[in-house]
Amino acid sequence: MTQIAILGFGTVGGGVAELIDLNRKAIESRLGEGLYVKRILDLRDFPGSPYADRITHDFEDILSDPEISIICETMGGKEPAYTFSRKALERGISVCTSNKELVAAHGPELLEIARKNGCNYLFEASVGGGIPIIRPMNTSMAPEDITSIMGILNGTTNYIMTRMEHAGIGFEEALKEAQEKGYAERNPEADVEGHDACRKIAILSSLMCGRTVRYEDVPCEGISSVTVNDFRYARAMQMAIKLLGTSKRDSEGNFFVRTAPYLVPASNPLHSVEDVFNAVYVHGNTVDDLMFYGRGAGKFPTASAVVSDVIDCARNPGHTLACKWEPEIMKLSDPAEEVFRYFVRLDKAEEKKAAAAYAGAMMLEAPEGVTGECALLTGPMTEKAFSEASAGLQVLSFIRMLG
Ligand SMILES: NC(=O)c1ccc[n+]([C@@H]2O[C@H](COP(=O)([O-])OP(=O)(O)OC[C@H]3O[C@@H](n4cnc5c(N)ncnc54)[C@H](OP(=O)(O)O)[C@@H]3O)[C@@H](O)[C@H]2O)c1
Repeated sequence: MTQIAILGFGTVGGGVAELIDLNRKAIESRLGEGLYVKRILDLRDFPGSPYADRITHDFEDILSDPEISIICETMGGKEPAYTFSRKALERGISVCTSNKELVAAHGPELLEIARKNGCNYLFEASVGGGIPIIRPMNTSMAPEDITSIMGILNGTTNYIMTRMEHAGIGFEEALKEAQEKGYAERNPEADVEGHDACRKIAILSSLMCGRTVRYEDVPCEGISSVTVNDFRYARAMQMAIKLLGTSKRDSEGNFFVRTAPYLVPASNPLHSVEDVFNAVYVHGNTVDDLMFYGRGAGKFPTASAVVSDVIDCARNPGHTLACKWEPEIMKLSDPAEEVFRYFVRLDKAEEKKAAAAYAGAMMLEAPEGVTGECALLTGPMTEKAFSEASAGLQVLSFIRMLG
């Protein structure tokens, strides 16, 4: 019997405990032995819960228990999660986490401590919730030269965008709906301003290049300025608008990483990913395109990813699983040099000026319900050339098109 502890008995931590009970037989048959949740750390007591007798408020109870070999860190935030994870790894106790904030900030350092102490720091649940993506990148895609990753990495924003597209409602109304359904936090900033997706694409990009892509270095835009009219034009062009994390490396060695809303053509599989679902589309030089799709959040999907890591640790006692992510900072290419086509909306009075400024642009017909403005789709141009061309114009909004 492998004995484990859970730090943080909230949505994910509670899901981990329940899942281990619910799927006890399946876990036993695959692992060859059972998993037992021996202690749970939380700030609160949980009277009436079947786990009430295992709750502790003192991390030392867990750290000093020689029977506990794996910890699930599902408390979130940087502290005390960082200190607790570090202390556990230094004692040779493996840590499986859903905490993307901590992984994005301290991932390579905690991986190194795990390596030195013959244990594991695993973080499958930190990106894409229940979708297996970290393990496939470390194992199945190990022979690949991964050249691009694009992902819908935040379920809250994807739900909002889906409602804006299909119900024709504005951002504020769609956000309110997401909050009422429990998909968005009361303070939705981390989701709608793109910070959550940005951390996740930074983690995936780090695994892609084996060095550290700092999320602070990744240009990040959210969805709060996307409007109903943007969706009207997108629909007329048979495209969707999605908040994406993108990471691509070209043959000249340029490495661009970005989080922003994109126009996604119908030919791209990300186009049809709707509601709270997430998807990650990866290109390897020999395997070609791979798509990973599923629930990016929620109690059981996220707990499933955490427990999959626990099982990996239990199968490999004293052995550190391969994960190439060095602390060396990866220098990203100048975002001003990245090339896109841009969908631009302007005041109607700017039509002639805009056609001249964005040479070769395709002028778009106003869809039903849009008045007093004009729009166009530029040819491929760098960000720098685009901002120079836009300088003298009253641009209402612009959205990059996924190439
Ligand atoms: N929910 C999801 O669907 C999901 C999906 C993917 C990843 N994640 C990540 O998973 C982590 C946990 O998310 P969650 O939704 O489960 O959060 P949550 O429901 O708020 O659970 C966190 C739990 O940890 C407890 N906690 C916080 N600080 C503590 C401390 N110092 N000592 C002991 N216990 C402490 C909290 O207690 P109090 O309630 O008393 O503060 C709460 O019970 C986060 O990093 C999140 O980003 C969540």
